[in-house]
Amino acid sequence: MKLSVIGTGYLGATHAAAMSSLGFEVIGVDVNSSKIESLSRGEVPFFEPGLDDLLKSELATGRLTFTTDFSKASDCDVHFICVGTPQQKDSLAADLTYVEAAIAAIAPHAKSGSLIVGKSTVPVGTAARMSQKLTQLNSKAELAWNPEFLREGFAIEDTLRPNRLVVGVTSDKAEQILQTVYAKLLAVGVPWIRADLPTSELVKVAANSFLATKISFINAMAEICEAAGGDVTVLAEAIGYDPRIGSKFLQAGIGFGGGCLPKDIRAFMARSEELGAKQSLEFLREIDSINLRARQRVIDLLRNDLGEDLKSRKIAVLGAAFKPDSDDVRDSPALDIAGQIAAAGAQVNVHDPKAIANAKVKSPTLNYSASVEECIKDADAVLHLTEWREYRELNPEIIGQLVAKKILIDGRNALDKKAWEAAGWKFRGLGRSTR
Ligand code: UGA
Repeated sequence: MKLSVIGTGYLGATHAAAMSSLGFEVIGVDVNSSKIESLSRGEVPFFEPGLDDLLKSELATGRLTFTTDFSKASDCDVHFICVGTPQQKDSLAADLTYVEAAIAAIAPHAKSGSLIVGKSTVPVGTAARMSQKLTQLNSKAELAWNPEFLREGFAIEDTLRPNRLVVGVTSDKAEQILQTVYAKLLAVGVPWIRADLPTSELVKVAANSFLATKISFINAMAEICEAAGGDVTVLAEAIGYDPRIGSKFLQAGIGFGGGCLPKDIRAFMARSEELGAKQSLEFLREIDSINLRARQRVIDLLRNDLGEDLKSRKIAVLGAAFKPDSDDVRDSPALDIAGQIAAAGAQVNVHDPKAIANAKVKSPTLNYSASVEECIKDADAVLHLTEWREYRELNPEIIGQLVAKKILIDGRNALDKKAWEAAGWKFRGLGRSTR
């Protein structure tokens, strides 16, 4: 069986290398020639732990190749669509330009009996519409949907050892083809769920909405803890022991960002309105607001300690990526906060172990430091906004000798409060009492 993967970003590049590692011949296709050149050389154009090594070893087998030429995928049995579906510039809805273009580009080359499988996150109804489009284009390929649940930072593990596989299909034949593709995963017991096209699309946005809701729930509890003098980290630990609640995704802080959760809940709301079911997802508006409020809360805490006027204050920001083990700065809470503080007149220095290059493109006017020491030198306050391991390993005693004021705001509730306080720092955490 030969596979193509169309779109070679975080999702597609990982999927292509992972499918090759399962023994398939895989061709990765993208319209971006610099991405294709870089992947062909064995260089991943973004940071994802382990992907560089996997890419190099799969290229070496000869099974994995990359091209900008869609016609080279004409002998493939399955075409995976892995392009992005960002938020539209002027609305909450998803921009489907890339999905539509990818399907239109592969359709004339897809051989009879082949399967085009969407992995991109799309509004419910897109797959059925794309299926009709294939018929209009006289394509002999069939369409299926197979949502992807991988997390950045764990992309390879999540692709090769997913906690479930969901396929939206309209025929037994399509299901059988996908069972062949994923045979090695099914053999080790990965649950298989066959669904219709709309359900498979909904599974993905429902899962991301649930995760976003869980994060905003704990951030709402953080607000209440601050008002009442409680500690949200203790509260989260205590409720997390109830297996019906679970401890994962209860980390209170500056909230969720990235290329998925924020735009997915917004696109879901926009779609529900089109479907005449707006009320069902009204709560997601509140989830979005709580999430954005958490960013503002950091700035409020900073002003509590430094005074209203932040002009010419030196602020060190540790972290620019939307989460650790990623260089992705799309809708990054850390970078958003850094930008807001700079806009208030502060002198902001940003450090990140991997995301500085991307951050510079997105927020070119901020100052960037190559080391933590340079970043925090003479700072009036240090903001910990992305919980990279190297920040947890900082020695608060040594770091304390470099700053002007020992004020730390832990926007991720990931640092050891007692250790920092013992070293003389004024430690602030979101949802943690300052009394
Ligand atoms: C998310 C989902 O977790 C994946 O299952 C999904 O496949 C992916 O979106 C997607 O749609 O492609 P990802 O965006 O990589 O994955 O990141 P997450 O690990 O979900 O984290 C999202 C954000 O929530 C981050 O900014 C993180 O810092 C924040 N977060 C996470 C919290 O603030 N608290 C938590 O307890 C957990």
